[in-house]
Amino acid sequence: MNICASPLAEHPNPPPHAFALPVRTTRRRTLAVGLIGPGRVGGALLEQLRTAQPRLARDHALDLKLCGVVARQRMWLDCDDAELNGRHAGAQTWRPSDLDAFAAHVHGAGDRHALLVDCSASETVAAHYPRWLAAGLHVVTPNKLAGSGPLERWRAIRSACTGGARFRYEATVCAGLPVVQTLRDLLDTGDELLAVDGMFSGTLAWLCNRHDGQQPFSALVREAHALGYTEPDPREDLSGLDVARKLVILAREAGWPLSMEQVAVESLVPLTLAALPADAFMQRLDELDAPLAAKLAEARARGGVLRHVASLDRRGRASVRLEVLPDAHPFAHTRLTDNVVQFRTRRYCDNPLLVQGPGAGPEVTAAGVFADLLRIAESLEPRA
Ligand SMILES: NC(=O)c1ccc[n+]([C@@H]2O[C@H](COP(=O)([O-])OP(=O)(O)OC[C@H]3O[C@@H](n4cnc5c(N)ncnc54)[C@H](OP(=O)(O)O)[C@@H]3O)[C@@H](O)[C@H]2O)c1
Repeated sequence: MNICASPLAEHPNPPPHAFALPVRTTRRRTLAVGLIGPGRVGGALLEQLRTAQPRLARDHALDLKLCGVVARQRMWLDCDDAELNGRHAGAQTWRPSDLDAFAAHVHGAGDRHALLVDCSASETVAAHYPRWLAAGLHVVTPNKLAGSGPLERWRAIRSACTGGARFRYEATVCAGLPVVQTLRDLLDTGDELLAVDGMFSGTLAWLCNRHDGQQPFSALVREAHALGYTEPDPREDLSGLDVARKLVILAREAGWPLSMEQVAVESLVPLTLAALPADAFMQRLDELDAPLAAKLAEARARGGVLRHVASLDRRGRASVRLEVLPDAHPFAHTRLTDNVVQFRTRRYCDNPLLVQGPGAGPEVTAAGVFADLLRIAESLEPRA
């Protein structure tokens, strides 16, 4: 079975994972929302919220009230105003950032439903989740650091949710693709996960697709960098660490207590280049060419293709590395920056379940975050 997703831009209708709220419900609900991190994803989310607010209020009796935005240095509050929402960069009262004061403001003094969206990549912010959840604030995030960070904190987050607050993080794995929810649905309906494999990095998928020996690998990395496909420092992609984080998140979703240290990660960055300043690394990028050319030659000699694959099985074996796959393998024929996740379960054993599509980009990531927010909103009982 395949679940495919395409960019929102090509499909103005909700993406396949978007949660359909019951139409014209009489259960009017209000949800106070605070956004942490108005960057690329957070900015796209603000746009999507602004566009959807009137429709959600009219057709679904859901009032989303944006109550604040906080960035690294400063925050603004009391901004539940259509005009101010539209120009957060020039907003009314800027104050120095204070995450606790921000959360308290969004929570409010009474009994209202409140939700924080963390669109940062900040460890400091992730460290606040257990307290926020324990206080009854829902949390939604594309930030991978809580899901893949210390196991103790992960457990504290889960137990903080027993009070009723919800924590959702679909967009941490392959952006807007329905990966975490698909796994959750399989498990909740009694299926058993046997293994997960996938290509979880759009950047590495693109590099592998294009690496055909016509150009040195370093030229492709430079091209991907210029196109904005890589992080500003491409080593963040090439090291495989971001992919390992996604594998850890999926393992924990399945109830397997995996940590980053247990993932065997094969970095594409030679040790000699790992600690250089970013500029110096870019200047010595051609040192990647010989090892990658050798890997390509090996793949060809074996009649296969090179792909960057993350794998996990129920014995807890987890790896992230370049692999030679046969040409008939489903991962051999992905397009551009496609991510693909293959779940092998008791039910999907002989013919695994595949989720495939673009796995990065602010708009699709923000849509994944928004869908999580709507799932939480749907579960709320009416309150003032
Ligand atoms: N971009 C994608 O395609 C994609 C895909 C999947 C997942 N994600 C994840 O989504 C998250 C956001 O990515 P992005 O591309 O939007 O990043 P970004 O453009 O760098 O934005 C990050 C935002 O977080 C804010 N921030 C950082 N530390 C903070 C702190 N301690 N307190 C409050 N705000 C803080 C930054 O504030 P300043 O502006 O003041 O620095 C900035 O507004 C990351 O966790 C990323 O891994 C991104």
